[in-house]
Amino acid sequence: MPIALITGSARNLGLAFVRHYADRGWRVFATCRDARNADALKAMAAASHGRITVHDMDISDATAVRRLASDLAGQSIDLLVNNAGFAGNGRMGVPFGNTDYGDWLKVFQVNTIGPMMVSEAFAAHVAASDRKIIFTISSRIGPKPTYGVVAYRAAKSALNQVVKQLAIGLAPRGVIAVAAHPGWVQNDKTVGQAALTPDQSVAMLAKIIERLTPADSGKFFDPDGSELPLITQQTAPKPYAMTHERR
Ligand SMILES: NC(=O)c1ccc[n+]([C@@H]2O[C@H](COP(=O)([O-])OP(=O)(O)OC[C@H]3O[C@@H](n4cnc5c(N)ncnc54)[C@H](OP(=O)(O)O)[C@@H]3O)[C@@H](O)[C@H]2O)c1
Repeated sequence: MPIALITGSARNLGLAFVRHYADRGWRVFATCRDARNADALKAMAAASHGRITVHDMDISDATAVRRLASDLAGQSIDLLVNNAGFAGNGRMGVPFGNTDYGDWLKVFQVNTIGPMMVSEAFAAHVAASDRKIIFTISSRIGPKPTYGVVAYRAAKSALNQVVKQLAIGLAPRGVIAVAAHPGWVQNDKTVGQAALTPDQSVAMLAKIIERLTPADSGKFFDPDGSELPLITQQTAPKPYAMTHERR
């Protein structure tokens, strides 16, 4: 039975990853920032006949990350999904000159440093598995050349470079590390606007995961499986990306 570990699995894309792999018979370690706020995930786990277990892991807390890695020592993990992300509090609304650098630190902690920390902590678990995949959810960082979401765009661009480095650093252990954009996906903020449901996005991403080979390591994928440059240009979106123009 293949085994997955998903970060940020309490809701939306993370929860959809858990559902996707558990429904296909995988054993899933579903990690979340605080299980007390993860009722949907806990209900899914309770109905899973032991296939899903829920674990607290705040990816901005080095102690929490190391603790879970240690608790799972000797456990192989075929697929580590670095899904947890944080777009920042200001989002589009912070004009140039009013940058909140405290918010920047949090955005980089969750989107850039956290996935590196989790990948380092669980590298041995992944390297001990059959499939050996670290799949990191990044972002195409917006379809248009607009000013805004600066910290998030910068943090996800830096994340792509982290993934490239993971690919190089873990190649001798046979680990495949890639990044992927999930599309524009419905979550608490984008519901009613974004084109894709979390389940639809995960179905597309799972097809990419299914056919990964070591030759793909270090690549950055669009959800249709095409390759993106590590630093994306903000140009015209693909049809599945938008139902409404995003300003
Ligand atoms: N939705 C899109 O259109 C879109 C587009 C491009 C990229 N992405 C990326 O896709 C991923 C998932 O997006 P989403 O739309 O599902 O976002 P979401 O609804 O905001 O969910 C993010 C998840 O990450 C968790 N998280 C945040 N900080 C964390 C931390 N310090 N430790 C552990 N977990 C933490 C959240 O936990 P809580 O539940 O406790 O808050 C939540 O479960 C993110 O990396 C996001 O940047 C999304």
